[in-house]
Amino acid sequence: MSDEPVVILGAGGPVGLHLARLMIDRGRRVRVVGRSEERMTAVFTGLGVEIAPADLSRTEDAARVMDGASLAFVCVGMPVRDLGALPGVARTIAEAAGRTGTRLVQVSNVWSYLPVRDADLPLTEMHARARGPQPARLRREAEDILEQTGACIAHLPDFYGPDVVNSPAQKAMGDALKTRRVSWMGRRDLPRPYAYLPDAVRMVADLAAYPEAYGQRWLIPGNGDLTGRDLGWMCERSIGRAVAVYTYGRVKLTFAASMNADLRDFLPMVPSYMKPMSFDTGKLEGLMGPQSLTPHEVSIKATLTWLAARAV
Ligand SMILES: NC(=O)c1ccc[n+]([C@@H]2O[C@H](COP(=O)([O-])OP(=O)(O)OC[C@H]3O[C@@H](n4cnc5c(N)ncnc54)[C@H](OP(=O)(O)O)[C@@H]3O)[C@@H](O)[C@H]2O)c1
Repeated sequence: MSDEPVVILGAGGPVGLHLARLMIDRGRRVRVVGRSEERMTAVFTGLGVEIAPADLSRTEDAARVMDGASLAFVCVGMPVRDLGALPGVARTIAEAAGRTGTRLVQVSNVWSYLPVRDADLPLTEMHARARGPQPARLRREAEDILEQTGACIAHLPDFYGPDVVNSPAQKAMGDALKTRRVSWMGRRDLPRPYAYLPDAVRMVADLAAYPEAYGQRWLIPGNGDLTGRDLGWMCERSIGRAVAVYTYGRVKLTFAASMNADLRDFLPMVPSYMKPMSFDTGKLEGLMGPQSLTPHEVSIKATLTWLAARAV
C-alpha cells in the first residue's frame, strides 16, 4: 500500500464511498473528509480508511487534511438551497491545495452547461457556459475557481447504483420494487445519459492519472442514454412482473413543490430536464481510449438487487 494518502473531500456521499472503495482496491491509502465524524464513521466502517473531520469552508481545515497528499478528489455536495456556499468552498479548497501542492479532481455534474443551446446535438466540453438558473451559475462559478488553479473537472451525468440515494433513476427503481410503477420526469421516450456509478467512478479515478487531464473539463460517459420506457421494461424483466411507467411534468412538479421545499428549490432546473440530452465523449475517449461500460440492463439489475437487500 502506497504511504501517501489519496484525499476525498466531501466523502460522505455515494461518489466518495465508491471512490474510497476503488482506491483501497487499487492499494492506496485513503483519507476521507467531511464535517461529521459520526456520519463518516457510519459510512466507512470496516473499509480501513483514515477519517479526517474538517469544515472545507475553512482554509486551515482544508490545508490540514490535504497535507502530505499530491491528489485530492473534490466530491463536496450540498442541497440546492445551500449552493450559495459552493464557490466559497471551492475558493478555500483551491487556496489550501496551492499551499500543500495537491492536485485536485472536481467531481461535478453538468449543471454548469445549462441551458443547453440545442438539445438535439450531443453536449461537448466546448458548449457555452453562460446564463442559466442560479444553481447552474453557482456550480459554474465553483468549477471555474478550481479549473483556473489547474484542477481537472469531471462532469458526471445523473447516476444510479448501489449506495446511491438521491437520484431520479434510483428513486424510480425503488418505486418499481415497492409499487410496480416507475415515475419519469418528461416524456417517457425522452433520452438522457445515465451512469452506473461504479463505472463512472472508475473513469474519474483513471482520468486523475493523466497529467494532461488537469486544467481542463471532461465529460464522463454514461452507460448509454436511458428513457423512462427503457427503465420500465428493464425493471420489469429484472423483477419478473409488470412495471408501469408514469410521467410527470412541470405542472405536477409545481403542485408537489408546494409541499416539498427541496423540490421547490429544484424547480428552476426542471426545463432542462424536460429536454433530451446526450454526451459527446470523444474528448475523454481520445485521451483514455474506448471505455468498457456495463450495459444498463445489467447495472439496473444489480441496483435492484442492492435496493431489495436494503429493504429487507
Ligand atoms: N447525485 C447525483 O446524481 C450526481 C450526479 C452527477 C454529479 N454529481 C456530483 O458528484 C459530486 C458528489 O456527489 P454526492 O452525491 O456523492 O455528494 P453529496 O452526498 O451531495 O455530498 C458529499 C458530502 O459533502 C460534504 N460536505 C458538504 N459541505 C461540506 C463542507 N463545508 N466541508 C466538508 N464536507 C462538506 C457532506 O458531508 P457533511 O455534511 O458530513 O460535511 C456530504 O456528505 C457532487 O459534486 C455532485 O454534484 C452528483
